[in-house]
Amino acid sequence: MGHGRVLNMIVARCALGVLMLVALTPLRFAEAASPTPTGQRAAAQYLDASSGSDWPGYGRTFGQQHYSPLSQINETNVSRLGLVWSMDLGPENSVTEPIAVGGVLYFATGLSVVQAVDASSGKLLWRYDPKSAERAGLNLRLGWGVRGIAWWNGKIYVGTADGRLIAIDAGNGKPVWSVATFEKNFPARINGAPHVYGGKVIIGYAGTTGKTRGYVTTYDAETGRQLWRFYTTPGNPADGFENKAMAMAAKTWSGQWWKFGGGADVWNAMAYDPETDTVYIGTGSGYPWNRRARSADAGDNLFVASIVALDGKSGAYRWHYQVTPGDTWDYDATMDMELADLVIDGKPRKVLMQAPKNGFFYVLDRITGQLISAEPYAKVTWAHRVDLKSGRPVETREARYPNGTTVEIWPCAIGAHSWMPMAYSPKALLAYIPAIECGGPWSDKNVDLKTWRPPADRAVKGAVDGDLDAVDENAATSPAPPADVSGSLIAWDPTAHKAMWKLPRPTHVNGGVLATGGDMIFQGTIDGSFAAYSARAGKLLWSFDARTPLLATPISFTVAGKQYVTLLTGLGMGMAAEAGMLGKRLERYAIDPRSQARRVLTFGLDGKIMLPPSPAPAPVPEDSDFTADATRWNTGRMVYDRHCLDCHGDSVIGSIHAPDLRRSAIPLSGDAFARIVRDGALLAHGMPNFPELNEAELLDLRQYIRTQAEKLRQSAPRGNKQL
Ligand code: HEC
Repeated sequence: MGHGRVLNMIVARCALGVLMLVALTPLRFAEAASPTPTGQRAAAQYLDASSGSDWPGYGRTFGQQHYSPLSQINETNVSRLGLVWSMDLGPENSVTEPIAVGGVLYFATGLSVVQAVDASSGKLLWRYDPKSAERAGLNLRLGWGVRGIAWWNGKIYVGTADGRLIAIDAGNGKPVWSVATFEKNFPARINGAPHVYGGKVIIGYAGTTGKTRGYVTTYDAETGRQLWRFYTTPGNPADGFENKAMAMAAKTWSGQWWKFGGGADVWNAMAYDPETDTVYIGTGSGYPWNRRARSADAGDNLFVASIVALDGKSGAYRWHYQVTPGDTWDYDATMDMELADLVIDGKPRKVLMQAPKNGFFYVLDRITGQLISAEPYAKVTWAHRVDLKSGRPVETREARYPNGTTVEIWPCAIGAHSWMPMAYSPKALLAYIPAIECGGPWSDKNVDLKTWRPPADRAVKGAVDGDLDAVDENAATSPAPPADVSGSLIAWDPTAHKAMWKLPRPTHVNGGVLATGGDMIFQGTIDGSFAAYSARAGKLLWSFDARTPLLATPISFTVAGKQYVTLLTGLGMGMAAEAGMLGKRLERYAIDPRSQARRVLTFGLDGKIMLPPSPAPAPVPEDSDFTADATRWNTGRMVYDRHCLDCHGDSVIGSIHAPDLRRSAIPLSGDAFARIVRDGALLAHGMPNFPELNEAELLDLRQYIRTQAEKLRQSAPRGNKQL
């Protein structure tokens, strides 16, 4: 998954396999509040047929449509939609899709801090901080923050940067149980939403560009007892396989893949079909990205970049469909999978739909896994088409950058669609994709594939060697920032296989989508605009200036019969590699993570609250001692790109979440800088420490940051210090 650069900084590789097979005993905090015996009420909440008054989990229902059937707010009255309440958040990661149950809104921000507020007034009910920064240790560098949480039967479930899955009493915010889903120092974190079904809660994790053996684990929702675990890549055959699926998968690998972990992390998407008790998981790309290094250039490498269907009770394999066989371009299949009943060729079909990174929109029969259709929804150059008979892509001749060539491939490694979910409206019969158009160069020209090994311990040893693109990380050149990149909101007809309408977006990074029974689509964009469009024509009906960039997915629910729409504002960290890689392109949106308050915004008809204007960003501090030094600038840039970019932004342009360091006085002081960057003075706030950085590297880093600040200062109109 993700993008190699910052993810190079890996903590010590842990012994895979053996440790992971040990079931971890949950730590219980208190007796769970007496559960309803069957959880039937909980299950009913998650059905597509539910009223939509609650939004109990990620995607709202088991089928993940991101669709609310509510229609009180609709095309005829949306002009009356206004802010009913807003709640200021701290300077924290805020890309979670909230949930709403029984008039209470729940969301997680920052380091998985969960808050419950009265959904109609915004009054805080409780706040639970799992204190994951210190526990995450060096893993904090991988980024943190979660995209979603879940509710089941009186409990809220959240994952943390240090790999815990925690159940919290929804009534009082007290932890009920907690389990470690991976061992300490396993190079991973949880950033996806837990999913729940049938009294169980299931979670995967995000590794470091997949430098792990992917798996999902299911726990008893009441007690946290581990029920089953499913690995997504085979381990070392010498150790024996866990199940038949692993033995089958191993036949699709070559070389000594298990030494690299293999990848296929389940870092985001899942769905559930209650009729057949089937759990669907979407897996990430292989590790390393380049199949020549990963698997001796052979085989499909199951279950990399796949949709896998598992038995809900036992976790046993049912079927799989691999969207990118033998992936070599970082084409995860972790984008949301949405279940629907479609009429195809006059016949009702139960389908699963996905718009993964590779640019094709897939419609599968969700009972059998059979491919129904796969048509490009974005520009695709790695494959001509997907053959419906074999279910396989017909790759273009140059796609695998053969013989040391450099080939521009569309989509680029960011993908034609990232984790921001699409929505499907069963009323308009359209899927709404927050799509990305970009191409990027691939090559393994300078890599010795025979001797290539993952650079596992480098971050700890502190070696900062060579260029920082992902040559060594992924055994292929990192896709350089694409020259040509744009975004759109596409209304995709999954049976006619075409875009019914398409709206250009301000840039490639934009928010997740909500569709409603009021025949509307809601989406936030990076320029801070939260807007509603007509579902069938894409006509702009309403918009609101949120005064801060938007990335999260909105939800809708009712309290006492009144419909609301809620959205978290602000950016996320370690999940917005899309922004990190292309930060320069975001400069024109003047993103300033410190001055632009992050908030929870709740809208309803006739809401009248106004947001205060954002204060001007802090001025770039004076730096009278500054002298240019191109050599130090350059080495500083390399250290920065390796260790700091994914949080502090490309070229030190504060475009993600962590402060814009050009506006900070800290880099002017060697002592203050070392206390924070080397010694970890701000660790509890999510700023990791880098004990391995030596004096020269710290100096180089400061030189780089101060030079970037100087450039910003110079670019200001004369006399204007309020940059
Ligand atoms: C995982 C994300 C992450 C990474 C990686 C990261 N930082 Fe930070 N950094 C933060 C956050 C979050 C803060 C703000 C903490 C707070 O709220 O006080 C911060 C704050 C800082 C500050 C203090 C700024 C101020 O004015 O208070 C400095 C300096 C800093 N980081 C430098 C660096 C450098 C240099 C690197 C790379 C060696 C780096 N950071 C890597 C997240 C990160």
